[in-house]
Amino acid sequence: MAFTIALAGKGGTGKTTTAALVVRALRELGAGSVLAVDADPNSTFHEALGVTVERSVGEITEEMLQSVDSTPGGMSKDAWMELNIHRYVVESREFDLLAMGRPEGAGCYCYANNLVRGCIDDLQRSYKYVVIDNEAGLEHLSRRTTRDVDALLIVSDAAVRGIRTAARLSELADELKIGVGSRYLVVNRAEEPLDPALVAAIEETGVPLLGTIPSDENVTRCDLIGDGLFSLPEDSPSLVAVRAMIASAIPALSEAKV
Ligand SMILES: Nc1ncnc2c1ncn2[C@@H]1O[C@H](COP(=O)(O)OP(=O)(O)OP(=O)(O)O)[C@@H](O)[C@H]1O
Ligand SMILES: [Mg+2]
Repeated sequence: MAFTIALAGKGGTGKTTTAALVVRALRELGAGSVLAVDADPNSTFHEALGVTVERSVGEITEEMLQSVDSTPGGMSKDAWMELNIHRYVVESREFDLLAMGRPEGAGCYCYANNLVRGCIDDLQRSYKYVVIDNEAGLEHLSRRTTRDVDALLIVSDAAVRGIRTAARLSELADELKIGVGSRYLVVNRAEEPLDPALVAAIEETGVPLLGTIPSDENVTRCDLIGDGLFSLPEDSPSLVAVRAMIASAIPALSEAKV
């Protein structure tokens, strides 16, 4: 069973950046096979990872629904869906990526969605780690069949209000009955030492701080020239920070060299 790491946080806090750094850190720490799941319909996860997506799960589902009752070769819809989801997983040397794309209309928990959820749960089982980049809410997580995540990283900006929003997201995860193994705060674009006001706000949340990520001009540069974060230098400050976080969050990796 894969160890699932999900990223959450309000808009623009650095979820996608952190998710891509987590994928890279896992690989550098010798974590084995990693599936990156892009669960944000407007996401840039593939860009942050430096790969292109041919087809999203949403597009595959649409095609299936449009074909009404005929699937090529008379295949069952389940088999057709499974085949296509496997076909459109982006494979790279370091990780695989599955883009969810746009889900079906709100409230539509129909046959097709169930089919998709089952296929994705099956797919995830064949990896050691799954890293899910989410949109600002927790919709994707609440739609999964396997709703448990082993580690929920809630990304916040370095501001008291941001920390409080992160705490509300943590409560929302409970309200949505998402089973969370461990949950952590990650403060992005933070300067150490943290301001006492920020430290106090973090303590108030009751959510442990996994670590902080500094503002990194190499990330800005990657963004500027459209490069993925796998091209960051190994000693880039944001990557060094995330590597240390992953080593401490995942006991099995903690003996690896950080
Ligand atoms: N530590 C950092 N140093 C420099 N730039 C950063 C850092 N973290 C994030 N950024 C930049 O900030 C912008 C927003 O980050 P990102 O896309 O990761 O946020 P997000 O939370 O995923 O946003 P959205 O809610 O839109 O999905 C990006 O341009 C990213 O390159
Ligand atoms: Mg994002």
